[in-house]
Amino acid sequence: MFGRVKPLDQILATAEKKSLHRTLGAFQLTMLGIGAVIGTGIFVLTAEAAQKAGPGMMLSFVIAGVVCAVAALCYAEMASMVPVSGSAYTYSYAVMGELLAWMVGWALILEYAVAAGAVSVGWSGYVVGLIQHSFGITIPKEFVLGPFDGGMINLPAMFVAGLVTWLLVIGTKESATVNAILVVIKVTALTLFIVLAVPVMNMENFTPFSPLGFGGISAAAASIFFAYVGFDAVSTAAEETKNPQRNMPIGLIGSLGFCTIFYLLVSAGVIGSVGSQPILGADGAALEPGSRELAAQCAAMGDSAVVCSKEALAWTLREIGWPQIGNLLGLAAGLALPSVILMMMFGQTRIFFVMSRDGLLPQAFSKIHPKYNTPHVITVITGIAVALFAAFFPVGQLANISNSGTLFAFAAVSIAVFMLRRSDPTRKRPFRTPVIWLTAPIAVAGCVYLFFSLDEKSKLLFVIWAVIGLVVYFAYSRSRSHVGRGIVDVPEAEVGDLSPPVPGTRD
Ligand code: ALA
Repeated sequence: MFGRVKPLDQILATAEKKSLHRTLGAFQLTMLGIGAVIGTGIFVLTAEAAQKAGPGMMLSFVIAGVVCAVAALCYAEMASMVPVSGSAYTYSYAVMGELLAWMVGWALILEYAVAAGAVSVGWSGYVVGLIQHSFGITIPKEFVLGPFDGGMINLPAMFVAGLVTWLLVIGTKESATVNAILVVIKVTALTLFIVLAVPVMNMENFTPFSPLGFGGISAAAASIFFAYVGFDAVSTAAEETKNPQRNMPIGLIGSLGFCTIFYLLVSAGVIGSVGSQPILGADGAALEPGSRELAAQCAAMGDSAVVCSKEALAWTLREIGWPQIGNLLGLAAGLALPSVILMMMFGQTRIFFVMSRDGLLPQAFSKIHPKYNTPHVITVITGIAVALFAAFFPVGQLANISNSGTLFAFAAVSIAVFMLRRSDPTRKRPFRTPVIWLTAPIAVAGCVYLFFSLDEKSKLLFVIWAVIGLVVYFAYSRSRSHVGRGIVDVPEAEVGDLSPPVPGTRD
């Protein structure tokens, strides 16, 4: 079972055949990474992290950033050595065999589709706030919040998920220029925030630094990990990268480093300017973010704390006397977050594509629309799932569930890199993970630690999802697997269909 390995040379030969134009350099890759990474995590989940850890969330950002950095170093070795589509799934297939690859692909569904749902909910929070503060229109809570957040259904989140699905079906390709513009908008918004919030910091707001102890800091780190997810989008562009050997690692680590610095400054700005102490329940324990209890408590307090806000950064700016800039920041989020959703949903369709090309998922999934030349079937299925997640679940819960899948995939890649060093030591490694005997184990341990710091519900859902995955594998995929059936080549037509450019990479 573990012996069903797709040989690396075969994977690489397939990639050669596709002969995509290699157009991306280190700068564009870094822009691509920043475009995929900065989103709901920093714009919205900062409030959730504050509710879990108080000012200690700064440490949470550092912990999550360090885990991502070591995982990125492992990713970079794989991505530069195996510059093909499919990300963690493909790497695992080559090294650890089909069953684990399947489990990784299955977990990536959580990473991408559920994350797209979370970002849709984050978008909704900012746009609803913007409409309210710019035009004085208050939309009833019932229609803009899910049932756990004190509403009924999140219609704006469903709308944006539907919109992005439609854009993907008609084959909209986000150009490199559009991506660059959106990156500039996001970075400018965050810079403005830092410039306005940091100077009015009150150091007293940093005490008590960790009101809920290290457990709170770990729980916040596990959630805020979401803010870094997406850098692996860079690895999916490996086939379109010039000199991937040099540029991939720069793109991965450059975008991650850039985002970490911004995140630390932004969180310091929030804590220092408006304070970020958690709201405690009657028993003295912090109320769970995204729970009905917290929603009720916030409503009773007139939403007068950052942890109550669905648009934490805009709320903070309004609170410190910059309401118009707060609205502008809301506008920036409203414009830029859909591109994060697009990246995530695109990543999802591409993973499905590769899995269905390998025979593990139905071939119908990779059916191509005759006019738009896009994989409309799987895009619409993904879109419906994303819209439903977005309609009914709180952003933090979705982010945590997504994190569980991502952490599993990152751990798998780190193990794969390590194993490959031993089993295939002579293969050319354009980028070598530094001190791998230390980096890979730290990455795995970091992922395991963050996984176990997630809330119980997310961990349980992950296990249920994994069990469903195993059932599907043994009931369906195993007997149809191309590797299992000895089909070694890939028909040219299918390969061609697999080659839409990654969003944000072409003009
Ligand atoms: N890192 C991305 C975000 O925070 C997924 O929205």
